[in-house]
Amino acid sequence: MIQTKKLYPTAFNPLFIKPARPFPKEIAVIGAGTIGPDIGYYLKSALPQIKLILVDVVEAALKNAEKRYADYAKKAVDKRKMKEDQARAILENIVYTTDYDQIKHCELVIEAATENIPLKQKIFSMIEERVGSDTIITSNTSSIPADRIFSKMKNPERTTITHFFAPAWRSLPVEVVTWPGGSQETVDYLFWFFAKTGKVPLITDNVICFMLDRVFDNWCNEAAFLLNQATAAQIDKVAEEFVFAGPFYVLNMANGNPIIVETNTLQMEEGSHYLPASILKSVDKWLTPRPGAKVEVLKDLKESIRDRLLGILFSQSFDIIDRNIGTPQDLNLGCQIALGFRKGPFDIMRELGETEVERIMKRFQKERPGFPQAAKKITHYQDFKRHLLVDEIEGVKIITIRRPQALNALNDEITNEILAVLKENHAKPDIRGFVITGYGTRAFSAGADIGRFPQTLGNAKAAIQYARDCAEVQLFIDQMDKPVVAAINGMALGGGLEIAIRCHSLIAVQNAFFQFPEITLGILPAIGGCVVPYRKWPQGAELFHQMICLAKSINAQEAFKIGMVSKLVDEYIHLIPAALEEVQNLKGQIKRIFQGQVRIPEIRMPDEPKAGNQNLSKEAVTITIQTIQAGAAAEKLSEALEAGYQGFGKIACTEAAKEGITAFLEKRKPVYNK
Ligand code: COA
Repeated sequence: MIQTKKLYPTAFNPLFIKPARPFPKEIAVIGAGTIGPDIGYYLKSALPQIKLILVDVVEAALKNAEKRYADYAKKAVDKRKMKEDQARAILENIVYTTDYDQIKHCELVIEAATENIPLKQKIFSMIEERVGSDTIITSNTSSIPADRIFSKMKNPERTTITHFFAPAWRSLPVEVVTWPGGSQETVDYLFWFFAKTGKVPLITDNVICFMLDRVFDNWCNEAAFLLNQATAAQIDKVAEEFVFAGPFYVLNMANGNPIIVETNTLQMEEGSHYLPASILKSVDKWLTPRPGAKVEVLKDLKESIRDRLLGILFSQSFDIIDRNIGTPQDLNLGCQIALGFRKGPFDIMRELGETEVERIMKRFQKERPGFPQAAKKITHYQDFKRHLLVDEIEGVKIITIRRPQALNALNDEITNEILAVLKENHAKPDIRGFVITGYGTRAFSAGADIGRFPQTLGNAKAAIQYARDCAEVQLFIDQMDKPVVAAINGMALGGGLEIAIRCHSLIAVQNAFFQFPEITLGILPAIGGCVVPYRKWPQGAELFHQMICLAKSINAQEAFKIGMVSKLVDEYIHLIPAALEEVQNLKGQIKRIFQGQVRIPEIRMPDEPKAGNQNLSKEAVTITIQTIQAGAAAEKLSEALEAGYQGFGKIACTEAAKEGITAFLEKRKPVYNK
């Protein structure tokens, strides 16, 4: 599997790093243009207690930033994403200033000024003159390598690039650059810091444009070259197969033409093929409609545009992996969460197949000679886990589910990947066991991917088969001799909880919580959720009735009380060590799930069942009760599990399931009629 230690010498999961220092109390952002204030707003939202100093030489920019902050906070309150006192805390303790002396107590300074090397160097010397010797100093440049900016500094070890993506207050990724002049300690700290404050840090090498802008800039530049065959609207339309908005639409939104000229000129150091299209210098706005608008593109033209766009995308992707600029999992994810691709480049390649990718690359080479081609066989680039980070500590494989854009919700590929890691490693004599956890601090996993459910609606056979297929990973864990421990780092919901409870033990942080929300969607937990809890922790049966039939959520303390969680830890930093210890404790002591019939208390439900203030479907609740009862009455675990799959088949054919799932996907409350 491609996972490079060069970029990640300490850990792939940023939260496994023991931070060398606490959170900063004061942070400065230099530059109140477009992205600087947004970086500041993210920092204040994640850490409202900090003092933020926003510095610019232009007073008007600072005034605009202040107004923008107030607007963001008001919108969040209006949309009920934030309480008023939270909004107030974010807006307090911000200094908008033109005076650099204000930053002297800052422990972290992020520069987000114009992309101009002499200007940046001047700013960094002003910063260095004022701050303490261990203040971390970073630049948000999207293209200039670290050595060119920081080489004149007295103490470059505490510097690096931290590159955000618009809109920086909510866009998840941040590229953190590793470079020879900066220390590993600085990179490790920032890697941890961003993850801990809700971002998805991606470590990249110190090359021009780092990782993701090599894709974005060249994608846009290639689109501009294609204007000799098609209109901007046509090119955007063809691109929409792969991105939510075409390159010209995005360039218009970001006023991006001069940026592409600048960054591609810089990339020409690697060869003249990176030449920026000259039309980018003479056009201000492109004539292109909103994404989704109808635009006619004839078949031949469409193919020609599509091949060129894919050619540049694949060329850059191969080059990034071949030169170890970034890892394939980061590139694949980053293109989706930073650049708006519907799928990662390696997913597109996989769907097209090797022969088609080779054809596209041959044509691309002919039309655009000089661009990088794949250095290895096309299949080599598929050898990585899309959604997992796999670390190894003390002979234990630690599997981190990383799908941050959906709170680590499990799709078919994730469960297959988990199963593959277990199968690849369980027979290895030097592997003692496994830990499964979720990326970030919010979610272990928010359940099975609800987007997948519509395919099973109204089709009992398909629904039952789907449940059986999903269950493979659980069935494998059931019979493993090496321990598998779930390290619950946040919410564990639905299908995510069904994986957690099949692990041989659960360790959780104090603020974790557990819920089966399926019934609110008009369905039931199919992969052992209606069966296993009663067989593993019969003392919690009353609570499980409430959880499964009424979506009651329980906190980590309640789960600990009924024995579902073996150990609670105060803070995330203790979670993995406790899970490793549990792997050791379980050696030769794995308790198998009870096989026989189980007695469960009578299930009594209100006449009008509700989850909080949401009405539930009576029909769905009835099917769920019947499924729990059938599972308890089964003589063998395998029969009980089968009752769960059958129950899912039945419930998938109800009006309630159709309504509940459709409502979630349409982001509205469901209305159940029976
Ligand atoms: N399947 C697919 N996508 C999911 C998901 C799931 N189980 N859980 C969360 N997501 C997605 C959301 O759709 C959203 O995507 P978007 O940004 O493209 O709209 C993203 O993750 C973030 O979630 P969001 O709902 O915006 O966060 P929140 O903080 O407002 O709410 C939850 C968090 C967990 C309460 C809410 O996401 C939820 O109810 N999820 C479904 C949980 C569930 O029913 N799981 C059981 C399924 S078996």
